[in-house]
This record gives sequence, C-alpha cells and structure tokens, in this order.
Amino acid sequence: MNNQFALSTQQLLEIANDLRQKIETGLQNDGTEIKCLPTYIHPKKDGIKGDAVVFDLGGTNFRAAIVSVGEKTEITGLAEKDITEMKMEGFTEDDLYNSQAQTINQLNIPKNCPIGYCFSYPAKSLTNGDAELINWTKGVKIAGMAGNPIGGPLVKYLNEKTNGSFNKIAVVNDTITSLFAGLMNPGYDAYIGLIVGTGTNMATFFPSDYIPKIQDLEGWSGETPVNLESGNFNPPNLTAFDAEVDNNSDNKGFQRFEKAISGMYLGRVFRAAFPNDGLDINLDAAGLSKMMNNPEQFKLEYVETAFQIYERSAKLVAASIAGLVMNLNSADPSVKKIQVLAEGSLFWSKVKTHDTKYVDIVNATLKELFAEGGLGDKEVQISRIDNANLIGAAMSVLS
Ligand code: BGC
Repeated sequence: MNNQFALSTQQLLEIANDLRQKIETGLQNDGTEIKCLPTYIHPKKDGIKGDAVVFDLGGTNFRAAIVSVGEKTEITGLAEKDITEMKMEGFTEDDLYNSQAQTINQLNIPKNCPIGYCFSYPAKSLTNGDAELINWTKGVKIAGMAGNPIGGPLVKYLNEKTNGSFNKIAVVNDTITSLFAGLMNPGYDAYIGLIVGTGTNMATFFPSDYIPKIQDLEGWSGETPVNLESGNFNPPNLTAFDAEVDNNSDNKGFQRFEKAISGMYLGRVFRAAFPNDGLDINLDAAGLSKMMNNPEQFKLEYVETAFQIYERSAKLVAASIAGLVMNLNSADPSVKKIQVLAEGSLFWSKVKTHDTKYVDIVNATLKELFAEGGLGDKEVQISRIDNANLIGAAMSVLS
C-alpha cells in the first residue's frame, strides 16, 4: 500500500543534521527553537543516602512517592492520581496545588524530607534547585504560572494549607530524571534520557565549556545536564497531515516534532489522513494500537495507515537520537558507547501488525543512520529501569 508517511534514510539524515545544528544554536543562545535548558545539578552515582519524597507531574498522572536511597533504592510509599483535569478550561494554579496536596497527603512523609520534583514541562532551572515554567505543553494551559517558579509556591501551599513541613526542593525535567537514573548502569561514555509517551523530549550531559551560553556563570563547571526540549524541533520532511494537526492545535507552530511522534497526537495525525471519514475526535494512540492489534475489526487501509504512522514515529525518534549523537561526537569524538535510558508507554509498546516492537524499529533505523551518517564507530544501547523518574528525582535532590 502507498505509504504517505514513508521517510528515506536520506530524509532521516537531513532531519538528524538539522537537529544537530539547532542543538548547537540552542547551546549558544537562549530562546531558540531547541531550548537546551541547563540543569545545575551534578548527580552523584555513589554515596547518596537518605529519604526523599518525590513528586512526578506527567502528561496524564500525578504521583507522589517516598524513595529511600541507600545500598538498595526502595520505594516505600506511592500515591497516584489521574490529572487530565489540568487540561480543562478554567483549571487554576490553586486547583493544581490542591489536587497535588490530596495525593501527597495520602503518604506518611517524615518531617523536613527533601523533595525531588519531576516536572514534565519546559522550565528554566534556577541555581537554588527550583525551576521557572517557560510554557505549558501537551494541552495544559493553567493561567498565570508561566515565568514563575514551580517548586517554591507548591512548598508554601503544602506548609500553609496542609500539615506538611518541607523546605528543600529540586525541580527537574522528566528527561533529566531518566538521564540521572541511567547512571545506575555504569560503563558508558555518554548518556541520553529520552521520553516518548504523551509528549516527547531528550536530555544529555555536555561538558560545560561546550555550552557557550553558560560561560559567565560563576562557580559552575564539569558536566552540565541539558534538557533539550527537542519536542519543539521543527524538522524538515513532515507532511501536509502534520501541518493540519498543527493548525488545529492550541499551540500552533510549536512542538512540531512532538505532534508527529508522541502518543497525544498520533490519533490526530491519523484523522488528518482520513478527513472525510467522520472519525471520533477522541481517537488517540491507544485507538491506533487497537486497530493494529485487532486487524479483523477494521478496514485494511486503517490498519496499514495506523502502522505507517507508528513506524514513522519510531523512525523520527531514531533520527533525533542520531542528531544528538552527532553533537556528542563534536563535543568529544572519543565517545563510543552511548546509553539511551528510554521512558514512555509508546516507546515500550508493541503491536500485532508485522509483530512489531517500537524499540526494534528505533534500533534498526539507528544502525542505518549511523552507517550512512559517518557514525559507524558509535554504539547505542537503549535501556529501561523501573521507576526511573522516581529514582532520578530522588537523586536530584539528594546529590
Ligand atoms: C515537554 C517536555 C517533556 C516531554 C515529555 C513535552 O511536552 O515540553 O518538558 O520532557 O513532553 O514528557
């Protein structure tokens, strides 16, 4: 069947090269397409000990947990809540804190326990560990929070309105928590944190002297964790369907890569491909999986198209990893073995069509791109760790 979502190796390499260049620009200046947001934490792999309470605000859920880090890392309490209400019109900052407090209060948290807050939206890290929201993504639009710190006001709310007693908080992106958790697997020359779920994004470490825009920062050196915000990449070789999805979104012109790749948008790409079929506006990535897993219940054309969109998503993710590996190579050509710690339900999914695992498409495409893109000496290992976000958030505040 004709594949309107096909991308040749050459096109994928164009995408990889474009991302590589835009990452360089983002390392030079603020406010660029690829934001490259530095995080001012040096994560420790060894010698961390203690309890942290961890908050995790994702695209769909809010979780609170108590994590004990020692010889063994243990999660000793966990509370969770569906937080899609965040996307509703009129939902306020106070509503958010109130909703978070309800979840947090279910746990028995020791007094003055430090907080590691995994926050899955673009935020500018401050040197005191907090971070300022730049803008919401993934359909959230709570008014009045952009430009303000995320952690401080939540701590204040919890201390004043509940019986919480907190002071220290570190706010980090979910790609940064994955990146940190990935350090538990030693022996790699470089590390990447990747999320492909409701949204998408990557983070890595760059040597501080490779990041021109932080050269004036006093007292900071070594490796800097950088949250790329690669979901905002506007790559070449997207289709008219992607333009349609973008036009109908509430953040037109932004998060173009995310809109071609992530779980929140795949159903919309599919609907754009069948504009006259009156498809359910709630069709999402789970709906596409249903088609691929129950082919006898759907038109062949639907099943094949769902697969083409799924396959393209994985190939685009591979192209973005290849682009970032090009940057890591420029920063240090001796880098050979790279671990990608990947999180997200779409990334670790599999479908019945051609008996396919998403990660297998990513690995196969990476091989091709490395061979064709002059990166033949690089080796990527894609890994997963249970509760990576919770562990990485605890590492952030206990390091
Ligand atoms: C956000 C990122 C986040 C990613 C994955 C994107 O929409 O901008 O900060 O890392 O989703 O959760």
